[in-house]
Amino acid sequence: MILEYDKHEQLQKNRKLTYKLRSRLIENFTTFPNNVTKIMTKELKHSDEFIKSLAEKYPTPFYLYDEKTLREHARLFNKAFAWNAGYKEYFAVKANPNPEILKILKSENLGFDCSSLAELNICERLGFVGEDIMFTSNDTPSAEYVKAKNLNAIINLDDITDIYVLEKCAGLPEVICFRWNPGLSVKVSSVIGNPVEAKYGLTTRQLVEAYRIAKAKGVKRFGLHTMIASNLLDEQFFLTTAKSLFDMTALIKKETGIEISFINMGGGFGVAYKPDQKTIDLIKLGQMIQAGYTEFNKVEPNLQIRLLTEAGRLVAAEAGVLVTRVIHRKDTYRAYIGVDASMANLMRPGMYGAYHHITVVSESGKKSNATQEVDVVGSLCENCDKFAVNRVLPTINIGDLLVIHDAGAHGYAMGFQYNGKLRCAELLLEESGNVRMIRRAETFDDYIATLNVNEW
Ligand SMILES: Cc1ncc(COP(=O)(O)O)c(C=O)c1O
Repeated sequence: MILEYDKHEQLQKNRKLTYKLRSRLIENFTTFPNNVTKIMTKELKHSDEFIKSLAEKYPTPFYLYDEKTLREHARLFNKAFAWNAGYKEYFAVKANPNPEILKILKSENLGFDCSSLAELNICERLGFVGEDIMFTSNDTPSAEYVKAKNLNAIINLDDITDIYVLEKCAGLPEVICFRWNPGLSVKVSSVIGNPVEAKYGLTTRQLVEAYRIAKAKGVKRFGLHTMIASNLLDEQFFLTTAKSLFDMTALIKKETGIEISFINMGGGFGVAYKPDQKTIDLIKLGQMIQAGYTEFNKVEPNLQIRLLTEAGRLVAAEAGVLVTRVIHRKDTYRAYIGVDASMANLMRPGMYGAYHHITVVSESGKKSNATQEVDVVGSLCENCDKFAVNRVLPTINIGDLLVIHDAGAHGYAMGFQYNGKLRCAELLLEESGNVRMIRRAETFDDYIATLNVNEW
């Protein structure tokens, strides 16, 4: 690792020489007009100088997380649902499993929603155990149930047959939750899809039966979970979800005599990735659900239900950016800006066509009002390896830095190594102003670590 950073200074010098050459060549071959149309702006929390100083010190690309924003978002959840005794946000670890991020969120009293053995192991190593952990998995290997049970996590079953699997491999715990798939023929999320086509959860009929079976087998406390949204910006949708969960607890009580002690309305709270969007108003949503709960309580005064959420994106997305450098430019049928990050670092645009705003930080410091429509691309041998398509950006020069916004959730975590791309470093801007590397970049040795190199 030290070697990599020693090499960095030399690389920076070479980089600048190459950029000069490429820039000169571009002047000869570029045919695309500037000033295509007016640009969309979105505020960046960091100054250009700060981003540039980091990029001098750390090789690009890298992720940069902001502790202050992270804490503010965690507090927002606790404030919005403070009216509900026992409310807890279980941060979806899959969104950002960096232990330093999880420790910050733990200190803000968040719990953790794990979906795999690795995520359970991370939580265990950090000393998070018991009902601070929820385990929401699907197609689950027995070993993962055993680990979750050993940690005394709240286990959220995705299928009625899993009652028997869990009983056999780990024994049934005192508390059990079931994931409900309401099966409405409403397309609520382009990512999760129509509930009847989604692989997750139990049907309503199975759900009632599952509670009956679990009760007969001695389970003492019960939770109800659903998650049918992904990145939705409409508060009304989440109110409807909460109300349908309240109603379902009444039905379960009527059918089985079980009083559900908590409902988990999942995650999926939307973030304004685009400049003209509005991030979900959590305080307003909290008030709307409180009113819905009060109404429900008039009909069902004996059902006192703890509310849980398991957001990832709304907690962490806006707290992170991916910083990458422009290394190439190509003008063919379109104008392409080539950067040193790729879809292997941030998969959302390539995989879902997701929009991530891009701010250009000029290497020279010169600001220009000229704009150009470009595709911002990585170097993977996949044509979907694009961070932006037909995006109007300020004129970009080789050597400039691009800051890709809202990358703190489902960003690094979805990274991969196709084409031998190595995962980049993660930096944390602490509240004190100090910047700390919280994960180093992978090296070639990491890439081949699982191979029998001695037999080559
Ligand atoms: C079961 C479950 N819970 C929570 C989340 C978090 O969703 P978001 O980050 O959109 O809030 C996800 C996302 O994939 C999920 O699958």
